[in-house]
Amino acid sequence: MLSLLKSLLSRSTSNTRIQAQQLLRDNSEDDAYTVPTRVLYPFQWNWDSCFTSLGWVTFDEDRAWAEIASLLKGQCRSGKIPHIIFHKDSESYFPGPDIWQYDNPEMKTSGISQPPVLATTVRMTYERCKNKEQALSFINSIMPKIFAYHRWWHERRDPHNTGLVATYHPWETGRDNSVEWDEPIKAVPLDDLQPYVRQDLATINPAYRPTNEDYDYYVALLQLFKTHKYDQIKLYEISPFKVADIGINSILARANSDLLYMMTLCDSSEEDRQTVLNWLDMQAKAFEGFWNSDRGVYQSINLITGEKLDFVTSGSFLSLWSGLIPFESASIMASTLENMCHATKVLVPSLSADDAKYDRYRYWRGPVWAIINFMIYDGLKIYDQKLLADQIFNTTRTAIKTYGFKEYYDPVSGEGLGGDNFSWTAAMWLYWLDKK
Ligand code: SER
Repeated sequence: MLSLLKSLLSRSTSNTRIQAQQLLRDNSEDDAYTVPTRVLYPFQWNWDSCFTSLGWVTFDEDRAWAEIASLLKGQCRSGKIPHIIFHKDSESYFPGPDIWQYDNPEMKTSGISQPPVLATTVRMTYERCKNKEQALSFINSIMPKIFAYHRWWHERRDPHNTGLVATYHPWETGRDNSVEWDEPIKAVPLDDLQPYVRQDLATINPAYRPTNEDYDYYVALLQLFKTHKYDQIKLYEISPFKVADIGINSILARANSDLLYMMTLCDSSEEDRQTVLNWLDMQAKAFEGFWNSDRGVYQSINLITGEKLDFVTSGSFLSLWSGLIPFESASIMASTLENMCHATKVLVPSLSADDAKYDRYRYWRGPVWAIINFMIYDGLKIYDQKLLADQIFNTTRTAIKTYGFKEYYDPVSGEGLGGDNFSWTAAMWLYWLDKK
């Protein structure tokens, strides 16, 4: 009886694996890049592709590296890797390239970036792949590009060497409508807002998406950037929305460590290695500024006012993934996380259920995201918080197994929400959760 049960369980696990692999193939374009989901997001997105390469490496190494090569085709001369690469035209997304009008001679792209997980996912892809020789030769060829990307963040988004890199747009944080941005975004003037039409609401329940008010601010910022020709240093001085996102800063710190590791495998110069060490050193010193001892978490900072954005979000726990924080703070944060999850079936909600703004259905204001869970899980492991890490693993796994590869999940019921057949969720299954 027990062996029958075990064989049924393992068969259903391998079925989920086959479904996840098929999903990535179905979302693959030209054998080169993966759309996050068809219709809602029909192009290549920066951090989506990085996480998706982790799924590909489990069954097609060449395709995993092709994903990264495609993403880098959109890299700008400044080093920035844009958040969307428009390899082909599509009418189903707003804002497309004609709205961005971003002058990138390499490729049609958006004019902002996204959380820089690239170096970390390249390292993870390398560690999982079998053909190390081929992988190292590719990594050697892209190392200057990854280095240039990190330089872009440090020089263009932290021109005064504070150790805190700034973001000028909620879309750049990847956590678009997180409550952290509600107050700072109000500084963006809406007087010159041009009319626009959203496409996302044609396919997704509006209750699961950012509001029209949120979109007004997103589009007004885009228009402002266009007026200033996306001049990054100028925008550092004048952007009305300027935030040190705990997510981006944690992800960049981790990526710097992983870049440094890969530099030891490649032909990188001592001078470049020293530069990365200096960036990390600056970040380590600045990180304390994110700590809120009353709340027991790290929090984003509004760089215009200097104030902390006082919320407990899933972004707060990405600080664990940075590897930069003291063990003592990590253990305090583990308690904060446990308290935050008392009313949830699936960890980790994107906003504490105790917060008045919590909304279990609406995008980054409550729902659970598999990639965020993966980073928090990995971060908790760094700090020996195994029980909590396992809880995240198990509840994420059950939600995906029960409701399929959705964009995000209701933390109360576990039900899948947002886009269907979602690439990074399938990739997280293949790379992380496909274990039992
Ligand atoms: N997440 C954004 C959107 O919803 C794009 O980066 O369109």
